[in-house]
Amino acid sequence: MKTSEIRRRFLEFFEKHEHRVVPAGSLVPGDDPTLLFTNAGMNQFKDVFLGTDRRDYSRATTAQRCVRAGGKHNDLENVGYTARHHTFFEMLGNFSFGDYFKQDAIRFAWTFLTEELGLPKEKLWVTVYQDDDEAADIWINDIGVDPNRLSRLGDKDNFWMMGDTGPCGPCSEIFYDHGEEVPGGPPGSPDDDLDRYIEIWNLVFMQFDTLADGSRVPLPKPSVDTGMGLERLAAILQGVHSNYEIDLFQALIRAAMRVTGCTDIENRSLRVIADHIRSTAFLIADGVIPSNEGRGYVLRRIIRRAVRHGYKLGCQDLFLFKLVDDLVDQMGEAYPELAEQADHVRKVLKIEEEQFARTLENGMTILEQGIADIEGNVIPGELVFKLYDTYGFPADLTADVAREKGLDIDQDGFESRMAEQRKRAQSANKFKMDRDLDLALDGATNFLGYETLAAEGQVIRLLRGEDTVSQLSVGDEGVVILDQTPFYAESGGQAGDRGVITTEAASLEVIDCQKHQGHFLHQVRVTDGVLKTDDRVAAKVQRNERENTARHHSATHLLHAALREVLGTHVQQRGSLVTHDKLRFDFSHLEAVTAEELVQIETLVNHHIMANAEVTTELMDIDSAKAAGAVALFGEKYDDQVRVLTMGEDAYSKELCGGTHVQRTGDIGLFRIVAESGIAAGIRRVEAVAGPYALAEIRQRDAVVNRLSGQFKCSVDQLESKVQQAVAHSKDLEKELSKLKDKLASAAAGDLTSEVKDVQGVKVLAVRLDGVDAKSLRSTMDQMKSKLGSAVILIVAVDGEKVQLAAGVTKDLTATFKAGNLIKDVGALMGAKGGGKPDMAMAGGGDINKIPDALQAVPTWVEQQLSN
Ligand code: ALA
Repeated sequence: MKTSEIRRRFLEFFEKHEHRVVPAGSLVPGDDPTLLFTNAGMNQFKDVFLGTDRRDYSRATTAQRCVRAGGKHNDLENVGYTARHHTFFEMLGNFSFGDYFKQDAIRFAWTFLTEELGLPKEKLWVTVYQDDDEAADIWINDIGVDPNRLSRLGDKDNFWMMGDTGPCGPCSEIFYDHGEEVPGGPPGSPDDDLDRYIEIWNLVFMQFDTLADGSRVPLPKPSVDTGMGLERLAAILQGVHSNYEIDLFQALIRAAMRVTGCTDIENRSLRVIADHIRSTAFLIADGVIPSNEGRGYVLRRIIRRAVRHGYKLGCQDLFLFKLVDDLVDQMGEAYPELAEQADHVRKVLKIEEEQFARTLENGMTILEQGIADIEGNVIPGELVFKLYDTYGFPADLTADVAREKGLDIDQDGFESRMAEQRKRAQSANKFKMDRDLDLALDGATNFLGYETLAAEGQVIRLLRGEDTVSQLSVGDEGVVILDQTPFYAESGGQAGDRGVITTEAASLEVIDCQKHQGHFLHQVRVTDGVLKTDDRVAAKVQRNERENTARHHSATHLLHAALREVLGTHVQQRGSLVTHDKLRFDFSHLEAVTAEELVQIETLVNHHIMANAEVTTELMDIDSAKAAGAVALFGEKYDDQVRVLTMGEDAYSKELCGGTHVQRTGDIGLFRIVAESGIAAGIRRVEAVAGPYALAEIRQRDAVVNRLSGQFKCSVDQLESKVQQAVAHSKDLEKELSKLKDKLASAAAGDLTSEVKDVQGVKVLAVRLDGVDAKSLRSTMDQMKSKLGSAVILIVAVDGEKVQLAAGVTKDLTATFKAGNLIKDVGALMGAKGGGKPDMAMAGGGDINKIPDALQAVPTWVEQQLSN
């Protein structure tokens, strides 16, 4: 039975039993920062299990694409080495949300396997959670499973959790026995991790929610979540023992042979490539772009691992991107989104492959050299670090190579070098606190800056460098921590506020504000007096700067929304900087943003500024925020209570944000994009200015235009045609000049005939010409030749500092005299180098002072040739 048919029959079976067939969720769980990738069918129903979301069905079934690489369930390292692990696989699942529970879940699974698919009962083995008597009873007494073919296992095997937090529960698993010829024992036996007994279906009896502190609370209603590995089931139904032997993988492995040139179908690297093209292509289709952090980094690692296996097969060309069409042939029908994105996937893979091929080549040479030099079987941390730091060769790749060669790596040595490097980077920035500095302060600074720009506070700590001090005096630089403050501390890309802190006895300038362990660290310079711990102070933010920072921050939100509208929703924030005088926004997008798109984006932002809609801030819990469609960043830690910022006409932008903003979009005033560039593969950067800075930017351009119209003595309207005229005119002049030079040269050539010498009946001319360039030199030589009819000629042309030589011999004399030799022999006297044909040769360079020597040598050279 083909893989595609199994998928179809599964969904139809459960549909027949009143389950709603629900489309698969994206591999990027957009609204769940606790999850790296979709790793199980139940992910899209997490909130339904928790009771915070409701659907109009209580039974569902899906075929869900999953990635298990990075995060809690990570199979990356096993891929290629076992018959059943994949980075990407398809999970077939049925779900009950407070509807049926253990009994029906078990019955459905058994019926589907033994009746619908006709698997022999004696080939199946089941497990239950150690104290789940209820499940054991159903299996033995209702279903009739032989008690000798049932094992009770503990937390590790039979308690399933989605992640460190979230829905979980005891589970019951069904295994298939591949037969005696395959090594391995039944579940719970010492060698149960070998390939004979393979888990095919996991039935989870969802009962609890694990909270962040590790405690478990019951779910509102007992539920069911199941997951069956499609590839494993296909292996059984196709009578093979390894997933890699099923129809779908065989097609991909053959494609991998075609593109890598490998002819050994058993080679493990082919399996790795066949596996990795699935995960990488689907991740890219779902919007992930290779990068150095988070999801993008995992994708990059998988691509790199695939490329390296290609390299191991001796394939030096880019190959991975060529497999996209083969994958679409296999899976495009079940996943139309893959087929739709095929072009994009190919492009992303190709760029990444190219980039990595270069890194790989350098790194592998150095690593192999290093391995050849070591004694023993440990690769030194120093080498791992050097490869990483100097050559960009990832440490996990070094570990991979080590594993294949049966070597270890000195992980501690590597990590201590990494730690030293982090320290060096930190000390390079004197205002950044050492991350490890423990302030040993309770509580957190109370931030008042959303409502006010000036407030009173009390000094709770003073630091000079990293040392706690009791006072700071005039001239000192240090850190002030207050119990409460209106100063915004740098975060979420928004720069820290500047301003002043004063008491009756002291004045301090605040030059930056940073957050550390929940406290706001005001970086200060004392301009007058002495400030002591416990002093009460007046803290005042520089109003103008803060207002401009708010303009740039709000403009950033509108820009983000406009980018998504114009370029597409694949645009995701990758970095952001907001200061009082500019903004910078990095985002995922493959191509340069065109000039037209930039105009569109700028217009949209200004449209929403002019709409002058109120900017609203709502405090809500994170789940409601996501339900309201607020854009959250993956990997950001949000508090339970988050601020949701909405702005623009018809709530154009909705984002989670802790920054400070304008009150109405009209306050931004004006928005202007000043630059667009690429900063890494697939990442673009837009730089822009808002408010008075946008006005200043426009004025600056205006001033340039005005100065130019002054210089060209025309109105601004006429400027463009004036410049075009000027450019055309200067081109004409250049042409004319070159003609004149030719004319001059030929006039000079005319005069030269008088300088011809007779050397034993041969006409010899050797002259210096000034102000002649290479082009005119050639034409002068041609003219001289035709004028003299039969001659040996050397012209040394001097054009400013540049010296050029041309040697020419008329055709009748080339048997005796070779221009190439003349230029070599005579040129050598002045250090000029060159060559050419028997009738014409050129040379450049040479010492201008030695020209007379060279000229004098020509007649002698001719005599020598004659006497040879
Ligand atoms: N969620 C369960 C699993 O992934 C079914 O095994």
